Amino acid sequence: MAGSIYGKNFTITTWGESHGKGLGVVIDGCPAGLDLCENDIQKFLNRRKPGQSKFTTQRKEGDLVSIFSGVFEGKTTGTPISLIVENTNQRSKDYSNIKDIYRPGHADFGFDKKYGFRDYRGGGRSSGRETIGRVAAGAIASKILNSLGITLTSYTKSIGPHKINYDNFDKDFISQNKLYMPDKIAYENASKYLEDCIAHQNSSGGTIECVISGMPVGIGEPVFDKLDANLAKAIFSIGAVKGFEIGDGFDVSNATGLSNNDSFVFKDKNIGKKTNHAGGILGGLSDGSNIIFRAAIKPTPSISTTQETVTSNNENVDISITGRHDPVIVPRAVVVVESMAAITILDLLLENMHSRLDYLTDFYKK
Ligand SMILES: Cc1cc2nc3c(=O)[nH]c(=O)nc-3n(C[C@H](O)[C@H](O)[C@H](O)COP(=O)(O)O)c2cc1C
Repeated sequence: MAGSIYGKNFTITTWGESHGKGLGVVIDGCPAGLDLCENDIQKFLNRRKPGQSKFTTQRKEGDLVSIFSGVFEGKTTGTPISLIVENTNQRSKDYSNIKDIYRPGHADFGFDKKYGFRDYRGGGRSSGRETIGRVAAGAIASKILNSLGITLTSYTKSIGPHKINYDNFDKDFISQNKLYMPDKIAYENASKYLEDCIAHQNSSGGTIECVISGMPVGIGEPVFDKLDANLAKAIFSIGAVKGFEIGDGFDVSNATGLSNNDSFVFKDKNIGKKTNHAGGILGGLSDGSNIIFRAAIKPTPSISTTQETVTSNNENVDISITGRHDPVIVPRAVVVVESMAAITILDLLLENMHSRLDYLTDFYKK
């Protein structure tokens, strides 16, 4: 199966299935000399771990990471870093009843037709568990970005009809609630809404917002490797993401040139912008303002309400999906979105190292 490798300079290869022995990632291109221990990665993995609240799947996994290679005496060596998480709480029999049935909204139908057979246990490679490798790699990318003064803040912006109000924005509250919302009132309303969804054997979608601050100007490569194009690919590669927008996003279609343009201002020895409709990216390059983007996440496809579908023998049947599923994917995907953004930014920062002759001469000409 092709398509499991992402990045050009900081390359990640994720591997593993939901109900196989384990999952992980191989990272190639991580610079040598970074202090790295399992706990740096575990902190990130704990943010996506299942079984932590009534709003996530009840599958109980410790998701404990082991560093198998690439680190010696607490520092990265510049060689491939291999990270492994073992599966410990598979209940594959939960899936035997959907072995020959295509779940509406899931990847089953396409996988079966493409490969001729599929690992139906927990969705195999199309499971949300695949994102373990992304998050483990994202922890490392974020650590490097933080050392350069670049920080990423991600949170749930909405669940169903319940959106955050920026007047109530409380950054500290993000990590204090199970929905990762920065607004207590929106969190309480979203919680009630989700309880209702669960009671009706249904699921909910929502949106995730990510703000990246401390970006230097000029990161991204013109034409095919634009920063916004790469971010879009990274975020759209996450299961259940159905929309992506930067800055004012789809709202620009209702704007005028005058209302949409961000005026430049020279202040405190720096060129900045008065507003940030562009979301920190112009011409595919970072413009030095905060990068702001959003991802729309669809409702979890596996729901226990009876739905119509078809078997691999072309029979029309009804299906009610049992097993353990997230009633909403959004809170667990927050750190996945942040991780893919961190990997993308780091990859393009490394690419930028050879964009100018003076960068090379400064480094090599003694
Ligand atoms: C973190 C995460 C958790 C997920 N949990 C579930 C789940 O419990 N049940 C489910 O049916 N889909 C879940 N999904 C969504 C499926 O992986 C996804 O819908 C499926 O692969 C089909 O792909 P598509 O929605 O991108 O078309 C999850 C996705 C992510 C990113």
